Amino acid sequence: MKPLNVGLLGIGTVGGGTFTVLKRNQDEIARRAGRAINIVKVADRDLERARQITGGNIALTDDAFDVVNDPNVDVVVELIGGYTLAKELVLKAIENGKHVVTANKALLAVHGNEIFAAAEKKGVIVAYEAAVAGGIPIIKALREGLSANRIEWIAGIINGTTNFILTEMREKGLDFADVLKEAQRLGYAEADPTFDVEGIDAAHKLTIMAAIGFGMPMQFDKAYTEGISNLQGEDIRYAEELGYGVKLLGISKRTDKGVELRVHPTLIPEKRLIANVNGAMNAVVVKGDAVGPTLYYGAGAGAEPTASAVVADLVDVSRAQLIDAAQRVPMLAFQSSELATLAILPIREINSAYYLRLRALDKPGVLAEVTKVLADRAISIDAMMQKEPADGEDAADIIILTHITIEKNMDAAIAEIEALSAISGKVTRLRMEELGR
Ligand code: NDP
Ligand code: HSE
Repeated sequence: MKPLNVGLLGIGTVGGGTFTVLKRNQDEIARRAGRAINIVKVADRDLERARQITGGNIALTDDAFDVVNDPNVDVVVELIGGYTLAKELVLKAIENGKHVVTANKALLAVHGNEIFAAAEKKGVIVAYEAAVAGGIPIIKALREGLSANRIEWIAGIINGTTNFILTEMREKGLDFADVLKEAQRLGYAEADPTFDVEGIDAAHKLTIMAAIGFGMPMQFDKAYTEGISNLQGEDIRYAEELGYGVKLLGISKRTDKGVELRVHPTLIPEKRLIANVNGAMNAVVVKGDAVGPTLYYGAGAGAEPTASAVVADLVDVSRAQLIDAAQRVPMLAFQSSELATLAILPIREINSAYYLRLRALDKPGVLAEVTKVLADRAISIDAMMQKEPADGEDAADIIILTHITIEKNMDAAIAEIEALSAISGKVTRLRMEELGR
């Protein structure tokens, strides 16, 4: 059979990994795909580096449109990142009748609805396994493996950079800035690392998973996003003392009132496997009504792990190209006519358990005042811990774990607690998830 001709846009971390994996495993890949998959043209801004990686036998250009307009290219692999040019290139490739493989979660979370609509109209495929959780085949699991289930919730460590930072800070006592530099050196971080640190990258990935899990359009603008830049080391330590790990989690739940779509640092019981996922590794738990909770674990970033997903998409495209468009696995898991716009709940309407840390004067009656505020709002306490005041100080840290309540109740309780004369400073609030059932 005629080989599948691939045009590569961007031969940086993931593009370089894709080139290497395709070359190293070409025979094995061809045996699976039923034909050879060849990169025939590469666009990159740095032609010299591109030449070094490709060895000089492949057509190179610094104009990405040369690739998407090349009639010899069957599939365009977009690995340059960003929203603006990447969107133009992907839409142009689709217009030219080419299939697209991309690792660009930002592009899909923000412009995915338009891109998938254009692809469907043209009868081409946009494949995006690498866009979520790097090398973990979570898109395939959600879209195909779990298709018997009504998905109830999805929760994941879906940003390798922040998981790497949290792990190194906890295990080695390293500085935030130093660990971030190392994550950048290893190729995990986004071009703008605030996307990683502030939870935006995780929210992009969560948006995609929620869309295909629940059968709804991408609604990234409604996602609640809170990163790790304000996370204090003492909270990680106190959480550990209480039997919890702290992870940046993306959580999406289907509720009677709407869909929760939120990224934030989260306490998870240490006994859960996902609480023990460290370094740049990712893990996603998906709860289906029939199968129960299922866990997917693997490398979430880096050249070859991400290339693994890109190349798997190429194999899928190679096979699906031969099938009538209507018979293919729907790009967004559900038939496009069956997508429903489910309401995304604002953060004040979500339900969660909470970790609270407050600084209180060490005198009689203070705890009673605090617990009264919680009791008045029907917030039930699960556990409490008081630390000894440091030498010469008269205030102590009190840590309270609560049962589940609605966030707006907790907002009001925190405002009241902060107003108590015996409490100094702000109350630290972290959300907690059991992730059990
Ligand atoms: P890199 O920055 O390492 O690679 C991007 C490459 O594209 C660079 O070589 C860059 O050149 C080139 N490029 C940028 N703009 C243009 C342009 N206009 N024309 C031609 N070439 C261009 O990024 P990554 O490989 O890390 O990421 C690529 C995509 O994959 C992103 O969408 C990212 O979010 C996603 N991704 C990344 C993962 C990772 O682990 N790194 C994991 C999963 C997804 P130059 O260096 O000169 O700018
Ligand atoms: N910057 C991302 C991460 C790359 O750290 O997880 C993988 O999507």
